[in-house]
Amino acid sequence: MCSSRDLPRMQSLKDLIVEKIQKKGKIPFAEFMQTVLYHPHYGYYNAEKERIGKFGDYYTSPTIHRIFGELIAKQLEEMWKIMGEGIFSVVEIGANRGWLCYDIVQCIRKEYPEFYRYLRYTIIETNPYAKERQRALLDSIESTDKKISWHTRAKDGFSFGKIQGCFLSNEFIDALPVHRLRVKNKTLKEIYVGYNGLEFFEIEDEVSIHALESHLETLPLAGEEGRIYEVNLDAAEWLRHISERLRKGFVITIDYGDTIDGIYREGAMDGTLRCFYKHTVNKNYYDQPGEQDITAHVDFTSLMNMGKSFGLEVTGFTKQSHYLIALGILERLAAMGNDFETLLKVKNLFHPEGMGEIFKILIQHKNIENPQLMGLRPLCSLPIVNTKTKVT
Ligand SMILES: C[S@@+](CC[C@H](N)C(=O)[O-])C[C@H]1O[C@@H](n2cnc3c(N)ncnc32)[C@H](O)[C@@H]1O
Repeated sequence: MCSSRDLPRMQSLKDLIVEKIQKKGKIPFAEFMQTVLYHPHYGYYNAEKERIGKFGDYYTSPTIHRIFGELIAKQLEEMWKIMGEGIFSVVEIGANRGWLCYDIVQCIRKEYPEFYRYLRYTIIETNPYAKERQRALLDSIESTDKKISWHTRAKDGFSFGKIQGCFLSNEFIDALPVHRLRVKNKTLKEIYVGYNGLEFFEIEDEVSIHALESHLETLPLAGEEGRIYEVNLDAAEWLRHISERLRKGFVITIDYGDTIDGIYREGAMDGTLRCFYKHTVNKNYYDQPGEQDITAHVDFTSLMNMGKSFGLEVTGFTKQSHYLIALGILERLAAMGNDFETLLKVKNLFHPEGMGEIFKILIQHKNIENPQLMGLRPLCSLPIVNTKTKVT
């Protein structure tokens, strides 16, 4: 494997993008985003750097506390039961360091030993350094029980056959590139990136791919003058491949975003695209290419509609706060005792001002008749928690 440290540092990512632009005149924003995030050597998600956690740019739920993975483990066990308790494959997409996998597998081994016998776990990850770290973290489980495998996905789909079980991702869809569109003088335009010899600048021109026009026609607010729309065409390809491989089971997608109405509520005329750098947020998309994350909110309405066209039914859609509370986060937290530090961390997962409101859970299913899941039940149906731990 060739490490980015071995490459001549003569060219920077910026030079490479400028070269692309000079060849073509301009590139769609989605191509710019794809390059800064996924260039094989310098892309944000392919570099040998810590991106997530205290020394990275942002936190994700699995990095906050293992309780998140434990509740997903509980969810998977419920799905396994609904599906008749046979072999159950979990396919996690975009696992970064492998924390979620570790917490899920450890919890299932300890708390659901019968389910553990039937569990298989596959990781799909493109970053070679992340994969090395996943293997190191998961080695203890792998060397004894041989539960975990690594696979890939190419243009023609995943490198494994049909499965029964669940596809799972946390903050993966938001990391895919988006096209940016704007209606100007009643005509749909796409935002491209140009270079003037000093800096990148935006150019509006005809849309680069016909699919973008048809996608926009499906949006309720389509056509509003001046508003920027972000369209994630790659998400559809992922869902299509997922559905092709899912003989029977579920898809759990956890990410920040909303339904289309929620995303485009007033005040979001310039879209949801943002950059994360060392735990700060900015909208300077063209600064320090490859050094900061660029991400857009996930349009869950599109995921639901696209999923239906590929044979995936909507099981439910809710906020992370609702989902974790309905799965029993308060009871689990109470059982951990009154450790103040743990309480503060875990609270962040479901508090409305933390990750509780902005993060959503979409669950889809295939070839299962009307499944009822604990995490999606109405909160008013829950018993009152008898806990000495006061969560405010
Ligand atoms: C924002 S991180 C989320 C990490 C992890 N799920 C978590 O919650 O901590 C996105 C992850 O997706 C991976 N990724 C991005 N594109 C991918 C692709 N096409 N196939 C597989 N993994 C990908 C990145 O390398 C990174 O590990």
